[in-house]
Amino acid sequence: MPLSIVILAAGQGKRMKSDLPKVLQPLAGQPILGHVIETAKALHADGIHVVYGHGGEQVRTCMAQQPVQWALQAQQLGTGHAVAQAMPAIPDDHQVLILFGDVPLVRKATLEALLRESNDRAISVLTVIASDPTGYGRIVRDGAGNVVRIVEQKDANTKERAINEINTGLLTVPAKSLRGWLAALKNDNAQGEYYLTDVIVMAVREGLKVNAVVAPAETEVLGVNDKIQLAFLEAALVEVGRDVFIDVNVVMVGKVFLGDRVRIGPNCYLKDCRIDADTEVHPNCVIDQAEVGPRNVIGPFARLRPDSVLHEDVHIGNFVEVKKSEIGAGSKANHLTYLGDATVGRKVNVGAGTITVNYDGANKWRTEIGDNAFVGSGSMLIAPVKIGSGANTGAGSTITQDAPEGKLTLARARQVTIEGWQRPQKKRS
Ligand code: UD1
Ligand code: CA
Repeated sequence: MPLSIVILAAGQGKRMKSDLPKVLQPLAGQPILGHVIETAKALHADGIHVVYGHGGEQVRTCMAQQPVQWALQAQQLGTGHAVAQAMPAIPDDHQVLILFGDVPLVRKATLEALLRESNDRAISVLTVIASDPTGYGRIVRDGAGNVVRIVEQKDANTKERAINEINTGLLTVPAKSLRGWLAALKNDNAQGEYYLTDVIVMAVREGLKVNAVVAPAETEVLGVNDKIQLAFLEAALVEVGRDVFIDVNVVMVGKVFLGDRVRIGPNCYLKDCRIDADTEVHPNCVIDQAEVGPRNVIGPFARLRPDSVLHEDVHIGNFVEVKKSEIGAGSKANHLTYLGDATVGRKVNVGAGTITVNYDGANKWRTEIGDNAFVGSGSMLIAPVKIGSGANTGAGSTITQDAPEGKLTLARARQVTIEGWQRPQKKRS
């Protein structure tokens, strides 16, 4: 069946205590809603609809580049009412997947599993076993284990409140049935809202199958309601191997992966990066959207900038900056160097004070350095330029043309000594 995705994002999010709408709060450097839209896009839906309300114009402006249709819910009358606002734009033969704009970490694979469990005669709901189910809708099953309804916390009796399988809110429903059920929703409940969850009872009554897919982890389906939950999800994005050591004042932002036995020295800033096994990062390094291979030695005071890929056994020393560069296995740049827009081969030695001169004031150009090259200290490599494999450049050279393989290239004034030269003397007054 063709797929339409509806993302609910009209809620106010009072508990954020912020002027910024809840779904625009940043998580891993991107608005919460941006994560949900990216996941929706990855499912190749035929249409993505975002239901917006409070702070709506700001949300629309921020997401203006996204391929989504907007549906306004002027008053927040409940999740069922919210979905109804998007329905006029959705054809009857579609499958409708409902996502929440404030549940940002749900994985594509989990949603694919949910979609597999629904068709024109079956709906599927994503549930999870909660460590603390308080506040959530509970999944009520009959003696045979079939889902029969979802009851909200405020409407639940004591027995129902003891259930720890909760509704994540995410579900898949055939559009034709959904349209009819939404029109029939009533708001005679504890909160006076039109509950989307009431469609479950309607589906059961009409003989449709209700399948529950249990999410593998709670963090994946957690909604963000306040700054504490936001910080918790941010922390959930950090993945750490065995025997990892992280010293004091290390700040990690976004998706950070640290392989086994990685050691991070004090005062490092790590953002959206991957650091593989047995790599040591010395104090005061910044690693931003870079991939660092295994057994590297980085810093102290090194800066690895976006789109940098370091292979295994690389050494990047103090006051070395790497930007948009690939550094081959076993290569070293140990002191005071800038490698920008460069491709560096294997076992290259980059001498102290080397600069890839990548910018001519208008455009950026690439530098290529072949395997086993030896770049002398203080070399200026004026890009675009190639240093052949096994080539040497003499210290202090300004290399403006390609340096051939296996040879020594010098580009500096020849040294002269002036015979009979006298130091100037101070004038006597
Ligand atoms: C909802 C579910 C509950 C589930 C919980 C999971 C219902 C009736 N209840 O409860 O079973 O356990 O989510 O977090 O569906 N929204 C709108 N317009 C509205 C109301 C909500 O767009 O009028 C959006 C919110 O922005 C949010 C989502 O719908 O993205 C869920 O709303 P929320 O108020 O958090 O739902 P809960 O009452 O917590
Ligand atoms: Ca909620």
